[in-house]
Order: sequence, then C-alpha cells, then structure tokens
Amino acid sequence: MIEEGRARIITEGVFYNSRMKFCRDLDMVIFSEIDSAEYLDALAASGVRGIRAALEASKQPIFNDLNPKAVEIIKRNLELNGLEAEVHCMDASILMRGRSFEHVDIDPFGSPATFIDSACFSARKYLSVTATDTAALCGSATNSGLKKYGAYAVKTDTYHETGLRMLIGFVVREATKYEKALTPLISWAKEHYYRVHFCIRKSTSKAGEIYEKVGYINFCPRCLRKEVTAMGECRERCECGSKFVMLGPLWLGELKQSEFVTRIYERSEGKLRYFVEKLKEEVEVATAYNLQQMASRVSERAPPTMEVVKKLREMGYKASKTHYCGFCIKTDAKVGVLAEVIKYLS
Ligand SMILES: C[S@@+](CC[C@H](N)C(=O)[O-])C[C@H]1O[C@@H](n2cnc3c(N)ncnc32)[C@H](O)[C@@H]1O
Ligand SMILES: [Zn+2]
Repeated sequence: MIEEGRARIITEGVFYNSRMKFCRDLDMVIFSEIDSAEYLDALAASGVRGIRAALEASKQPIFNDLNPKAVEIIKRNLELNGLEAEVHCMDASILMRGRSFEHVDIDPFGSPATFIDSACFSARKYLSVTATDTAALCGSATNSGLKKYGAYAVKTDTYHETGLRMLIGFVVREATKYEKALTPLISWAKEHYYRVHFCIRKSTSKAGEIYEKVGYINFCPRCLRKEVTAMGECRERCECGSKFVMLGPLWLGELKQSEFVTRIYERSEGKLRYFVEKLKEEVEVATAYNLQQMASRVSERAPPTMEVVKKLREMGYKASKTHYCGFCIKTDAKVGVLAEVIKYLS
C-alpha cells in the first residue's frame, strides 16, 4: 500500500513512479486553481493522479489505460479510496477521438507525440502533457526530434529551454487545425521530464494568432548568441561570422501566465513553493545563456548567477535566473553585453 497525498493505492506490477510525486503534488495545486469539473486521466496506470484529482481538487475523474491489468488496479484503487468513476480500457487516442472532455491529461511512457492530435481534438478547456523523451526534445537526439515533433534542434548551452519550447510548439501547432488556441498556464523542466498545462480557447482568429508566437531560435555554436526569428524570417550569419543553426519551429511565447503562477505560488508550501517561486521570477524571454559556458569563451570564471542578473537589470535589461539550471540566466541582453558583464564581474 502506497500513500501519496490523500490517496492510498496499490500498484501490484502496474507502473508507478514515486519520483513523480513532486509533479503530482504540484498538479494538485494547479488543478485546484483551474475552472473545470471533468478530468480524463488518459494514461492512468494505477490511477494515482486521477484519484488524487478527485480527493484533493474535487474533480470528477475518468480513467483510461490500454493495459487490462492497470484497469483492474484502478478499479480496486477507486474502491480503496471510496470513489466511483468511469474506467475505460482503450487506446487513449480512440477514446479521445470519440468523445470530448473538459480536461485531458497525457502522461505517457516517453513521448506524448502520438497522442497529441487526438488530445487536441478532444480537450475543451485544459490539456496537461508530460514528456520524458527529453533527448528528442532538447537537441541531444536531433533525428528523434524531427520524427516525433517535426522540429530541428541541436544541443545548446541551455538545452532545457529548447526542449520545453519544442514540446509546447508542437502541441500548440497540433491544435490550430481544430481552430483551438492553446497557451501555457504553467510549464517546467525538471529531472528527466517536462510538464506543461495548457488552457484552450476555441477561436479561429486566436488559433491563427498563435503563429505570432511560434518561430526559431538562431543559435551560434561559436559565441552562443541566440536570436529569435518569426516564421518565414531568415537570418543566416551571426555577428561573429559563424553560421547560425536554426532551431525550431519552437514556441517563443510565454512559458506561463504570471497571474496564474502567482496564485499557485500563494497556495503552495515547502519544496513546491520554493520551486514555483523560481517559475514566477523567470523573465519571459526565449533567450537563455549558460554562464559557465559563456565564461569559458571569454577566458574567465563564471561570476555568481545572481550578480550577473542584478548587473544586467541595473543596465536596463530583462534578466532572471532559470528554474532548470543554477548557472543559467534568461535575458534580452545581446551576447556581447553579457560577455562584458561576465568580464567586469570576474
Ligand atoms: C507513464 S504510465 C502513466 C503513469 C500515471 N499517469 C501516473 O501518474 O502514475 C503510462 C501508461 O500508459 C499506458 N498506455 C500505453 N499506451 C497506451 C495507449 N495507447 N492507450 C492507453 N494507455 C496506454 C500504459 O499501460 C501505462 O500504464
Ligand atoms: Zn557567433
């Protein structure tokens, strides 16, 4: 018997990862803040997330898993927790094609890519997605990224930024054919996974406007410069003379809705609060830099991250730490300015 949050569950050979407890804990705070009743746990395994959603966020969960053993365990777990709910044993994509749900959660083994089309078709108000195939998303496995997400990336000094933006970019693009505009309420990269919670607006015009926030990060492997370009816009060479590598298409818009994240911050405690504070403090620019790698290029040691952030802010730039790496920053300052700041502070 496992106790997690307010739930008690058995797993008996069905997938359960205790390392994802933090993610589910944060999800419960998020679910409590969103305006929905119905919640499809589309790849439920033991059902732990949906059961917690019922107990801790007053949702009406619907469960699904293709594995009959998982379905049996979900039913027993519902009984154990005094709950009643629909439980399906179907391919999640077929279930989602046949029926629309207010909130859909896709939490697969590895890549969510094959489920996203149907999930976008089905979800009316909210869509939550986990990806654990971070190598495909962050540029470590370039060809896998192309195959699954239709986007190109190489590994950069701030690869989690690329990875999260490739995942979001893919999901929002999959949704526009259904005239749905998806935007992240909150998103993060942690350990071996990425997680994004989207809110959905059904609107032909808003779905079109999504492409104002989709584009490319032009990355220079020599000086680490990153410059953002819109769809259709081209920039061949970096100021240093090297050729840019064009990463994308990626989501270039906000990784969160600030007011929403502030509410999550106010509701959370302990480790969750500490983590959400980092998300809350992050500036909304798509360009991130790894100070250690930047410093090695200007033959200096990396100064403390917060000192660089403070200095850039004093100079009038947007700057913050990142939630995914202690010596990475986000800023709208150009790479040359950042190099000068590093030299000045070292
Ligand atoms: C990573 S586990 C889900 C973990 C669970 N959400 C949790 O929080 O503990 C993925 C589940 O997806 C199920 N699955 C795999 N392919 C599926 C499909 N095509 N349709 C429905 N379920 C599927 C597996 O049986 C497995 O139980
Ligand atoms: Zn360059």
